[in-house]
Amino acid sequence: MCGITGYVGPRPCVRTVIDMLRRLEYRGYDSAGVAVAGRPTAAGDTDVEVVKAAGKLAVLESQLHDHWEKQGTAIAHTRWATHGGPTTPNAHPHFSNDGRIALIHNGIIENYQELKEDLIRKGFHFTSDTDTEVLVHLVDHAFRAAGDMETAVRAALRRVTGAYSIAVVSTHDSETLYAAKTASPLILGLGVGENFLASDIPALMRYTKRVLVLEDGDFAVVTRDAVSLTTLEGKPLVREEFLVTWDEQTAEKGGYPHFMLKEIYEQPRALADTFRGRITDSESVRLTELEGFTKDQLATFTRIQIVACGTAYHAGMVAKLFFEKLLRRPVSVDVASEFRYSDPLVGPDTLCIVVSQSGETADTLAALREARRLGATILSIVNVVGSSITRESHATLYTQAGPEICVASTKAYLTQVAALYLLGLHLAGVEARLDSGLLRSYVRDLTMLPDAVEEVLGRALLVEELAARLAERKTFFYLGRGYDYAVALEAALKLKEISYLHAEAYPAGEMKHGPLALVEAGVVVVCFGTQPHLFEKMLSNLKEVSARDGLVVAVVPENEHRADSAAEYVLRIPAVRPEYAPIVAIVPMQLLAYLVAKARGREIDQPRNLAKSVTVE
Ligand code: G6P
Repeated sequence: MCGITGYVGPRPCVRTVIDMLRRLEYRGYDSAGVAVAGRPTAAGDTDVEVVKAAGKLAVLESQLHDHWEKQGTAIAHTRWATHGGPTTPNAHPHFSNDGRIALIHNGIIENYQELKEDLIRKGFHFTSDTDTEVLVHLVDHAFRAAGDMETAVRAALRRVTGAYSIAVVSTHDSETLYAAKTASPLILGLGVGENFLASDIPALMRYTKRVLVLEDGDFAVVTRDAVSLTTLEGKPLVREEFLVTWDEQTAEKGGYPHFMLKEIYEQPRALADTFRGRITDSESVRLTELEGFTKDQLATFTRIQIVACGTAYHAGMVAKLFFEKLLRRPVSVDVASEFRYSDPLVGPDTLCIVVSQSGETADTLAALREARRLGATILSIVNVVGSSITRESHATLYTQAGPEICVASTKAYLTQVAALYLLGLHLAGVEARLDSGLLRSYVRDLTMLPDAVEEVLGRALLVEELAARLAERKTFFYLGRGYDYAVALEAALKLKEISYLHAEAYPAGEMKHGPLALVEAGVVVVCFGTQPHLFEKMLSNLKEVSARDGLVVAVVPENEHRADSAAEYVLRIPAVRPEYAPIVAIVPMQLLAYLVAKARGREIDQPRNLAKSVTVE
């Protein structure tokens, strides 16, 4: 998704905004650009200088040699194409016909077609196919009437409908940045004698730890020494400043070749952080985030609805099984993009659990709003503090994964599952549903998971051997039953996201209803067998595959040997409580996906066509 950065202050502004932009590369993009409103020179220069290029940041950087040390006010952007292909003209910033105003945008302007026709009638000419370009001409048009940039930006924004965060610079007013947001995230970084803006916190961390998170409808005027926040109509606003506790290094690769590998190895710590302060000495779960809900209130939730996208949806699938077992009430789990248009059966009796790493996924946010409109109570499980989903939830349980940079999620997934286990155990405790000894043993076993994951990582060499054998294969199936089916879905997603190989997950019992026809020599079939009560069934499925010459990889607990003769390769994982097996079973699969993708020379951290945070529908 697009990334925005901006800077006003004494540093070389191009160097600063490009450096910040590099820290947003994880969002995925296909072109980039920068604009500088320099101070007026003796030569009387008045244009905003704009440099942009299709492709990765390195292409843009190769065109910036004369610009690195420039002084002035700058904005920069990485674009993920929506309207118009990933070309240089379509890259941001877009600029006014007189060259004095430049603008960057993240989001979609829905009424751009009619605005464009109107502007063309008025004599403006367009140099791109984007929806964004209408905005800069609207600002220019309004400036001609008002003679003042702030009034002009406000007037332009009042004419557009859709989702945006924007930043504007101009040589009418070269020491001021204008920014506004209705949907996509925008954060201000506060300095001394300088100020910054960016789509996400990692971009700011090298420069300042003091941030302000803009909310929908906020309009900011940013100069070196001041930040003024108002509504679009000009009503003053106060947003609380907070201090980011992540250090810069946390968001860097820390010596690993890819963020993905670093993040896989951070999982024991991320899990421990997610449990920290939430498990009492008497082996019970205490979530202070839920203290606003009384026991009676929790009892009114006769239904639980989980919504999420991608990996977060797979975490939701694990939770459905766990909650239904512990709480004995119906739990539905839906992908947010389906849920939002499905006329869903939720109401005041529903606890809607929204799971999202970024807290910004457009479909998930829309699903949340729909559930809320219908009267449901929203509890979100989110990684990014202060993100949109958290602001619209009744309560939020933060995962403590820290910044996740690789597009393919690993540690965020593990902490989502962990937070959902905590939530299930908390609710079971409040409702006194389980025998207290049993509940305690659930909690105790949970605390062992960071070590169990550490153990899996200690056996990474075995996965390397396997990856070397599988790297040239073209088709992969992942099969499981119960919890293992949720793991199979996530394992297949990991492989397809970063290696671009065809990988499908199936409930193992469904193979015979179609997919078995595809199994032949060369097809890899990974079978998960972590659920004791389903193991015999799983073994039959595994044999069906090996009888058809599929290459079977079995993932089983270390004390399980029944699959040894039928599988070509057995990966053993620590034996944990079966309900918690998803946590340990996915880790070798993350490593496998990583190693196969690496062997195939893939980009890994930023897979083609994908974005970390999908803030458009
Ligand atoms: C994108 C990311 C996935 C993520 C999904 C949902 O597709 O590439 O890794 O699972 O969005 O994102 P969220 O931030 O809501 O968890």
